[in-house]
Amino acid sequence: MIAPAILDPMADTEAAAEARKATGEGRGLVVALDGPAASGKSSVGAAAARELGYRFCDTGLLYRAVTWLALHRGVSPRETDALVRLVDEIHLLDDGGGRLGHVAVDDVDRTAEVRAPEVDAAVSEYSSVPELRMALLQRQRALAEDRRIIMAGRDIGTFVLPDADLKLFLDASVAERARRRALERAIDPDSPHGREILEELRRRDMLDTTRAIAPLRPADDAVIIKTDGNTFEVTVAIIVAKIGQAEAGQGSGDDRPTRDRKPRAERRPMEATPIATDLDPLTRIGSAVLRLIVRAMVRLKIEGDLTAVPRGGPLIIAANHASSADPVLIGAFINQAIGRPLNWLGKRELLEFRLLGWAFRRAGIHPVDRNSADLEAFRSAMRILDARQVLAVFPEGTRSHDGSLQTVREGVGMLALRSGATVLPVAVVDSDRMWPRGHLLPRFGRRVTVRYGTPFKVTDERAEPGKAKAGSRDRRGATEAATRQIMTRIAALLPPRQRGVYAADVEPQPGRGTANAQPEAAAQRD
Ligand code: CDP
Ligand code: CDP
Repeated sequence: MIAPAILDPMADTEAAAEARKATGEGRGLVVALDGPAASGKSSVGAAAARELGYRFCDTGLLYRAVTWLALHRGVSPRETDALVRLVDEIHLLDDGGGRLGHVAVDDVDRTAEVRAPEVDAAVSEYSSVPELRMALLQRQRALAEDRRIIMAGRDIGTFVLPDADLKLFLDASVAERARRRALERAIDPDSPHGREILEELRRRDMLDTTRAIAPLRPADDAVIIKTDGNTFEVTVAIIVAKIGQAEAGQGSGDDRPTRDRKPRAERRPMEATPIATDLDPLTRIGSAVLRLIVRAMVRLKIEGDLTAVPRGGPLIIAANHASSADPVLIGAFINQAIGRPLNWLGKRELLEFRLLGWAFRRAGIHPVDRNSADLEAFRSAMRILDARQVLAVFPEGTRSHDGSLQTVREGVGMLALRSGATVLPVAVVDSDRMWPRGHLLPRFGRRVTVRYGTPFKVTDERAEPGKAKAGSRDRRGATEAATRQIMTRIAALLPPRQRGVYAADVEPQPGRGTANAQPEAAAQRD
């Protein structure tokens, strides 16, 4: 084990950067290195960094250290404020060569402890807490400011450093990764203990890839490196070569790479949209014009009783998404009916054009960066709900391919649980037939129904009797259950054709037909 030389990583970062400037060394690249557990990120990444004279940072250590400390102090993943406060006690340590491969808690090196099995078992639950991820975000970004760094983790290319010059994603089969982890811990991979490691990795893979916020996945522009069968040295050589090629493509290493994304200067932070709180005259007029256009183009039927929709307090309007017209079919009508303006989340590109951008902002669209959509979207959404306003969401994220419900990640359930907001389920029926995907314009004269369900609050499974102290697994389960409650309500409002993956969750209605049944009553009864 290498003894850490310097306790303040930031001080070393600055000193090392000065030294590099003095020797005229190029500034080098920012390299994101993501991948599942035991894919080789920390060992391969550190070795490649050593060879290239790069700094290295293993962000998994930060999540592990917070988890270790939280277990030590009895802080559960639900106690978000207390959890976030632990972050200040954690520091990455430099091995003297710019590699942040050790972690200290209150100035004591705890690298060995944070790799213990109890941390393995709990870390994914803790790292799915959005507030904790946010608290660690600036720390990670600051480390990359001086460039010439390989940063290893799960969401580095997708969220922490979406503008990284090179994104690498290390992967290997779970069996191979479990074998490596077992050998590293001097355990026979085929022994019962070895098989436990395999199960543990499977579980962590599942949690890391399916969490609502910043899940593990390769960035769209990542180079995926499969390492099954590769020796350690071969993997290091591949990474060194990739970085070398990328540096060569950049000339001195100072220029931006030529890739199909916008240069950093153009991706400056975007001005936030003010939260829409009042239905002002301009919004009323704009909505009235949109209503006239909609009525002229389609045979719109609006069903459901909106009198029970709260006129104040946080409200989530959650709908299925089957056509580009859905936001207007809902937004231009319901705001008038409930006397409240809607807030939406939208990709920032929508707001980049002057006039259109102005109009979209007026329509209550808040920009989110697609590269980092999950966490930023969650934060923007929570801001709106904390301000006790209305947030309209399509939990599916993107339009459905065939008009039926697709599996959703758990963002909407987490929002409903965290904010305590009332949820209004909405079904947009047949909008996919009115405006099929790939068609430039909608078809005139088609029938579309917008069906509103009964407003409800999701039930928090953890609060149910008999669950005295909720563990982290309960937290995850509660989010999943809340999401399912919302999607089932939406599915119940849709005709069977559009219920998709949630069809089985909808209770059959005795005596009712199928295609044009009005499952409204089903949703409203309970
Ligand atoms: O070493 P191993 O691959 O087993 O894990 P690690 O990289 O030390 O990360 C431990 C855990 O921290 C992961 O399973 C993730 O849940 C979390 N993590 C994360 O969420 N985001 C990161 N950037 C790094 C780690
Ligand atoms: O950081 P991460 O959890 O992704 O993985 P690691 O701790 O760097 O690697 C897990 C184990 O796999 C280490 O013992 C590495 O030496 C080993 N390894 C390997 O044998 N062959 C590779 N191509 C990559 C890693």
